[in-house]
Amino acid sequence: MHEMKRTATCGELDAAAAGTQVTLNGWVARIRDHGGITFLDLRDRYGLTQVVFDVSGEAQDALAAAVGGLKLEYCVAVQGTVRRRPPDMVNPELATGAIEVAGEQLVVLSTCATLPFMVSDQAGAHTEAREELRLKHRYLDLRSATMQRNLALRHHAAQAMREALNSCRFLEIETPTLMRSTPEGARDFVVPSRLNPGSFYALPQSPQILKQLLMLSGCDRYYQLARCYRDEDARGDRQPEFTQLDFEMTFVDQDDVLEVLEAAFAAAFRDGIGHELPLPFPRIPFHDAMNRYGSDRPDLRFELELRDFTELARAGDFGIFKKAAERGDTVKALRAPGLAGYSRRQVEELEEHAKTYGAAGLAWMKCGADGLESGVSRFYQAQQAEIYRALDAEPGDLLLLVAAPWRTACTALGAVRTELARREGLAAAGVFKPCFVTDFPLFAWNEEEQRWDAEHHMFSNPQAQYLDSLEQDPAAVRGELYDAVINGVELASGSIRIHDPALQRRVFAILGVSEEEAAQRFGFMLDAFRYGPPPHGGAAIGFDRTVMLMAGEATIRDVIAFPKNTWAASPMDNSPARLDTHQLAELHLQVRPTADS
Ligand code: AMO
Repeated sequence: MHEMKRTATCGELDAAAAGTQVTLNGWVARIRDHGGITFLDLRDRYGLTQVVFDVSGEAQDALAAAVGGLKLEYCVAVQGTVRRRPPDMVNPELATGAIEVAGEQLVVLSTCATLPFMVSDQAGAHTEAREELRLKHRYLDLRSATMQRNLALRHHAAQAMREALNSCRFLEIETPTLMRSTPEGARDFVVPSRLNPGSFYALPQSPQILKQLLMLSGCDRYYQLARCYRDEDARGDRQPEFTQLDFEMTFVDQDDVLEVLEAAFAAAFRDGIGHELPLPFPRIPFHDAMNRYGSDRPDLRFELELRDFTELARAGDFGIFKKAAERGDTVKALRAPGLAGYSRRQVEELEEHAKTYGAAGLAWMKCGADGLESGVSRFYQAQQAEIYRALDAEPGDLLLLVAAPWRTACTALGAVRTELARREGLAAAGVFKPCFVTDFPLFAWNEEEQRWDAEHHMFSNPQAQYLDSLEQDPAAVRGELYDAVINGVELASGSIRIHDPALQRRVFAILGVSEEEAAQRFGFMLDAFRYGPPPHGGAAIGFDRTVMLMAGEATIRDVIAFPKNTWAASPMDNSPARLDTHQLAELHLQVRPTADS
């Protein structure tokens, strides 16, 4: 390796280096043979450099043979002289596009077996169908410039967030991954204990309880890039193991926590992609977010605000809507500016989105030159002027309407809003619109099991004005709960916590957690909270999602070095895998046969 150890990377040479001797080490990304002259693109993490071997001369037999034997993804060392490219060959797209290296020596450091796929950044290289293959040979997939960029971006974002918190007196403290079950509401991954037959650790769904205990310990400000484990269905923005920038602070109110979130996001976007996020982030109470955007994670890159149509519906002649309004349901309207040209079929496609979110249907009308037309317009002829005014409608607009109980009406039309923006290309790439959604309800009614669930988790503080009426009207209680959202993606969640054991017991009681169950699940925490717990609060940033957004990727798999597929498996190391009988016996486990085993 000695003489052929690199003197430059493949991403750094420019016209100023012309005339110098260099050695490059890297992988063969491209080979073009022009009869006697061979062009190579040599790749490493830093970029691509074009190497030209002119082996037409007679004394060049050995070099010609070595060059002739090259294949894609061989790992090689090249020594040669940097020279400017002829003006018509300059490639402004490439950092090294002004030069090429005239290759004089070539050493093959290692050869490459038949490739399962081409290492490529070309559009389409990252399609779903290929994903299993990409994941199986993830080490090769990671060679592409896009994946290298994503990993580097992740690193820079992590460092930036760390620095932002370090400068606010936070301490980075690690918490265990072998512990007891934690209460984030997903299923646990569990680990059998060899030394304690029949007992299991749970991998933490988040460090929630431990960080609260650290506040009780007087650590004041804690953070951690924490790995979290949740046994739930993997989707584009969910992985069974993922990373949070988790933090917690003592003696603070909601605004203090939101400021830290802003600082962490701003630093990550600045250092990661050179983007200045506008500060402070707008704050939108949950109710407003639902009413205006039909979502508790609104995408603010486009307007398309929902309006209330309930009173217009009550006064109108469309029976279904009229009855809905009289029943106490909500009718929401969405004005799609300039889209009166949508065909019936296009509207039906939008309707499918509304139905997926629980709407019975999607009613519509068009704003023509002479007033409302088609769809349900005949029921609203008498109210035209009022409707135009209420919705700020103009000729050429399409009006879309949903009637349902409030939350369903908002959510269903919110889904239509998002789909419209997608179709019309309103959700621009490279634009980032952050906000905080605040004042979430503390409790969510679980229709299936006929009980109250915690909207976030059971340690979140109710807002002070609801303290007297928690039990009487749980639905009305707002919590000191907040989410950070950018471009419609929930990037962080947090709350001010309950630090009063008596209040915690009341919340457990509403959630149907009995004293015994609480003692069994969180006994150690409740016990700790007898010893002078300070007021505290915090949040956790979904770090993978944040990097995904910055990288412009559609799934967090593309910003995680070794992710799992949608079946929570890794095709590369074939995990999860069966244990042999010896290992099972040592763990005191027996596997029950299933139909397919
Ligand atoms: P929460 O469960 O909302 O809160 O998680 C915080 C953030 O983590 C991200 N996230 C995920 N990312 C990838 N894959 C997943 N499966 C996944 N699940 C969640 C989201 C989310 O906003 N302990 C609390 C935080 C707190 O109260 O301080 C918690 O974990 O971006």
